[in-house]
Amino acid sequence: MTVTPPVLRVEHHAQPALGVGEDRPRLSWHVDAAHPAYRQGAYEVAWRTTAPDGAVVEEATSVMDGDAQVLVPWPGAPLAPRARAEVRVRTRDGGADGAGWGPWSEPAVVERGLTPDDWTAELVGPGYDEGPAEARRAPLLRRGFDVPGSTVRSARLHLTAHGLVEAELNGRRVGRDELVPGWTPYDDRLRVYAYDVTDLVRPGANALGTWLADGWFRGRYGFDGGHRDLYGAHVGVLAQLEVVTDAGTVVVGGDAAWRSAPGPLTRASLYDGETFDARLLPAGWSEPGFDDSAWSPVAVLPLDRAVLAAPDGPPVRCTGELPPVSVTRAPGPDGEDGWLVDFGQNHSGRPRLTVPAAPAGTVVRVRHAEVLQDGTLYTRTLRDAAATDEVVLDGAGLTWEPRFTVHGYRYAHVTGWPGTPTEKDVAAAIVSRVLHSDMARTGWFASSDPALDRLHENVVWSLRSNFVDIPTDCPQRDERLGWTGDIQAFAPTAAFLYDVHGMLADWLRSLSAEQRRFGGTVPVYVPWIPGGTYWQPTQDIAGWGDAATLVPEALHRDSADRALLERQYASAVTWVDKVAGLAGPDRLWDTGMQLGDWLDPTAPPEDPLRAQTDPHLVATAYLARSARSVAETARTLGRDDDAVRYATLADEVAAAYRKRYVDSGDATHDTQTAHALAIVFDLLDGDDARARAGERLAALVRDGGDTVGTGFAGTPLVTDALSSTGQLDAAYALLLSHASPSWLAMVDLGATTIWERWDSMLADGTVNPGEMTSFNHYALGAVADWLHRVVAGLAPLEPGYRRFRVAPRPGGGLTHASARHVTPYGTAEVAWRVEDRADGTELVVRCVVPVGATAELDVPGAEPTVVGHGEHEVRVRRG
Ligand code: BGC
Repeated sequence: MTVTPPVLRVEHHAQPALGVGEDRPRLSWHVDAAHPAYRQGAYEVAWRTTAPDGAVVEEATSVMDGDAQVLVPWPGAPLAPRARAEVRVRTRDGGADGAGWGPWSEPAVVERGLTPDDWTAELVGPGYDEGPAEARRAPLLRRGFDVPGSTVRSARLHLTAHGLVEAELNGRRVGRDELVPGWTPYDDRLRVYAYDVTDLVRPGANALGTWLADGWFRGRYGFDGGHRDLYGAHVGVLAQLEVVTDAGTVVVGGDAAWRSAPGPLTRASLYDGETFDARLLPAGWSEPGFDDSAWSPVAVLPLDRAVLAAPDGPPVRCTGELPPVSVTRAPGPDGEDGWLVDFGQNHSGRPRLTVPAAPAGTVVRVRHAEVLQDGTLYTRTLRDAAATDEVVLDGAGLTWEPRFTVHGYRYAHVTGWPGTPTEKDVAAAIVSRVLHSDMARTGWFASSDPALDRLHENVVWSLRSNFVDIPTDCPQRDERLGWTGDIQAFAPTAAFLYDVHGMLADWLRSLSAEQRRFGGTVPVYVPWIPGGTYWQPTQDIAGWGDAATLVPEALHRDSADRALLERQYASAVTWVDKVAGLAGPDRLWDTGMQLGDWLDPTAPPEDPLRAQTDPHLVATAYLARSARSVAETARTLGRDDDAVRYATLADEVAAAYRKRYVDSGDATHDTQTAHALAIVFDLLDGDDARARAGERLAALVRDGGDTVGTGFAGTPLVTDALSSTGQLDAAYALLLSHASPSWLAMVDLGATTIWERWDSMLADGTVNPGEMTSFNHYALGAVADWLHRVVAGLAPLEPGYRRFRVAPRPGGGLTHASARHVTPYGTAEVAWRVEDRADGTELVVRCVVPVGATAELDVPGAEPTVVGHGEHEVRVRRG
């Protein structure tokens, strides 16, 4: 075989893709290996579309000439709601040694979900008085139903909720998704998840049950002690089960025949944790035959079905388990006797315990924290999040995990463990379940420096901890909001490390919706909730609102998803127009409250705003950057007039920036961040000015003892600013510095994730006294993007890595480094190593170019070359 079978994907969905929203889902494939002369000259798609009863709706093939293989248009008739298509693809070799058609791919499956018109089910919630808002118990809802005939051919459950929901069919859990339906501005968009439940439904008597909890819909969260009932006072489940049998189709949906009762979760809160009282669990409640006559009828709740929509991204799931690395007998934060458990890694998740039998009423309690101080959990930084889970035994032993909460932690403290266990007993009975959006890993980095590798690992863990349905600032304290500035800084890094495309595309829909709601302002976090003392939805803030332009740009660069750019275009343009209006004719955005270079290392604990760099300098720089981004997007989309208009705006803002901020003599304009912005955002006039700025930046780094002087704005840029102006040594000095503040100083203090502040932990091992101190914020980890592109040397040149650069820049005494990325064309890799030889050293660079892509090799000391797919090696002798 001269070419391996293509691997086929549908949109940005995992396989099988059930309940999708697209009626013409785009297809992408990659070929893992092919002979060197292979070029895709044509592709053939074969598809078979069926209705739920198995009737064939369409069966066809389509041949298209050309080399397109990423997000190609759907070749068939639009998929009707519920239609299922099995799709295969093969490619024809159009290269010099063209050998005809290659093998077929494995089939990919895509099933369309329901449209708002396809719903007959009602939203149903508890029909009894739930009592005061602070003390509501999480409800259970159920309905028995009969399935006619003798065979179940297929069954799908379409599910969403006001609140959070987990479904059971005949006593068995449906799927393994968590925190469904996640968090969107629910009045605008409520996501529906679809499950194949063919194996759970049977002919005859059945029952469908749902756990329901407050979640983001009406639970307590937010600033200043939080709010309740933010989206409404009533939780409800919207479920529609469609079963096809040999005797016809049955649809079981929410209706007045459902029953409701308070369940065994006496507390279920995202911030505070959960209490499960096993004594209150009605045995067999989600099985047929359960007597629910003592339960209450349900309330049928109003719902605008037009807001129902399919998710673009994956649900939250448990993606791994962390066993304890140590368990010791130690007091808890309030002096309580118990067991201190170290999971060895800060992360988002929740515990699972296997508790032995003990007298009914025994309470086992688990508290959580990111760090220890004085030998016990340090919980002050959680602020108003209790992060406490409890199980109340009914006498029997049980394995238990909370259902509707998530915590950010490395350590737990357990009290109330029955009997007299040893540390080993407790260690064997507890794991932490890692929870986040279930995205595929797509990026890796390694080097010869273990501290640098640990830094990279910390970035990966901060990503995992904060991609929990929406991109959050932190997973632990009473915040966990979709801060736009944080993801603006981190999106390029994220897009390399994980397949974040579906999840962030989904969140960008929420961003657009909130932006529309607030007249063009992109709020500092999305979804928007009341902002307490500081935050209003009318604040236009540089670096934060720019998520509207820069997050779609970063996603497109990685995925070549033009439709996403098109979809977000109005949002991006509206943001830039808004800010250009604020800047006015002098093109300087120098009014209003700005977060500027938030949290640079000089910001005192109580005032994270107080940075070295003029915040209005940062604002004007961002206006230029976003205007340039819109100009380029417009060009990509063929909107030529806009391309010219926004390029002119960008030029004018850059000119105004130079006039006002370059060489002004003001110390707040002569900082690491100021120079980094000017260089990377292309605000300077000509190469000489760039080189001068690079020299000055390098001098500032050197004079600062190779310590970091940047916050959220400067940190993602500073190493690029140096390496792109001939100051590679200064970039490495900064990257590899162990002097505080620096990335590796965090590592030296035992960080397992990226901290919010450079000094979240002080050098003496105590926690920063600032009330805003987290140990798990990804923004300062944006340097990993530079590790991938410059240290290892794997950088896209064209969207989707169709053309990319292999341009490693060894330095800093590293003897090897490598990066690998799953591009839309398959896996690309660069690995370099300095080898000792008798007469000096040799730099050996190896790269892998996926089929369909081209790489420009730019290795120091070697002639630049362009190579096609396959493995390549360059060797350069050094003195
Ligand atoms: C969050 C940040 C956010 C910032 C904005 C903090 O409370 O945790 O990461 O971007 O506020 O001011």
